[in-house]
Amino acid sequence: MTLPLSSRTQNIAASLTVTIDTLAKQMIAEGKDVVSLGAGEPDFPTPEPIREAACRAIAEGKTRYTAPVGILDVRKAVCEKLERENGIHYAPEQIVMTSGAKHAVFNALAAIINPGDEVIIPSPYWVTYPELVKWLGGTPVIVKGGREQDFKITAEQLRSACTARTKAVLINNPCNPTGSVYGRDELSAIAKVIVEKDIYCISDEVYEYFVYGSEFTSIASFDGMIERGESATTPPPPPSRKSSAKSRDRRCTTRAM
Ligand SMILES: Cc1ncc(COP(=O)(O)O)c(C=O)c1O
Repeated sequence: MTLPLSSRTQNIAASLTVTIDTLAKQMIAEGKDVVSLGAGEPDFPTPEPIREAACRAIAEGKTRYTAPVGILDVRKAVCEKLERENGIHYAPEQIVMTSGAKHAVFNALAAIINPGDEVIIPSPYWVTYPELVKWLGGTPVIVKGGREQDFKITAEQLRSACTARTKAVLINNPCNPTGSVYGRDELSAIAKVIVEKDIYCISDEVYEYFVYGSEFTSIASFDGMIERGESATTPPPPPSRKSSAKSRDRRCTTRAM
């Protein structure tokens, strides 16, 4: 095939995670003793009850189209989890099921990014984030969380990084690759800047249970981050975020979990 791929696809780098993972698998196949820190995957298979339930569902013929936003009972279960474990109140119609967290982050970015929009990404970051932003024509703005600040960014750094083009900040808490966990006060200060600057927040909390010796807080739990009855996981409409109180209050576009 001589026809080129799309410019936006040529504009992104190959997945480093997949590259590292493929290399590790190859070395293991060659008999080398390798601890792979590539793909974030458990070293055990999917637990038996989950596998059984999946097989049962197929046997029962649950193989037809579901609602595009996901099965209602599953979305209700997500709401119960968020209420019980995170103290955040969502209604099922505010929940959208996706094929994994990467898909959720992509959908959220795709719903809000116009070419030239800036997305603030605290560094060190999961390598996928800048590529997703670039693929959508946005500009990743990397803000460094240095070693002396436990690899986290401060509210003041976020404020300084905001420009007229800033559309969103992508918080990953707990963080891949550093394992750093934002404390309640740190997150509260960051949430205040997000409200003040009137930008979207995409919070990737996929590692929320990987917390040792500290406590996990979701940034969605702070005042002004979500409007009750409005969308928390449904991507907001693309028009200007300055256009209405409704869009302004839909800050926690995605809480990937
Ligand atoms: C921070 C972070 N978010 C999301 C993902 C991907 O999640 P999923 O496999 O559910 O798409 C990863 C996987 O490495 C990750 O590290």
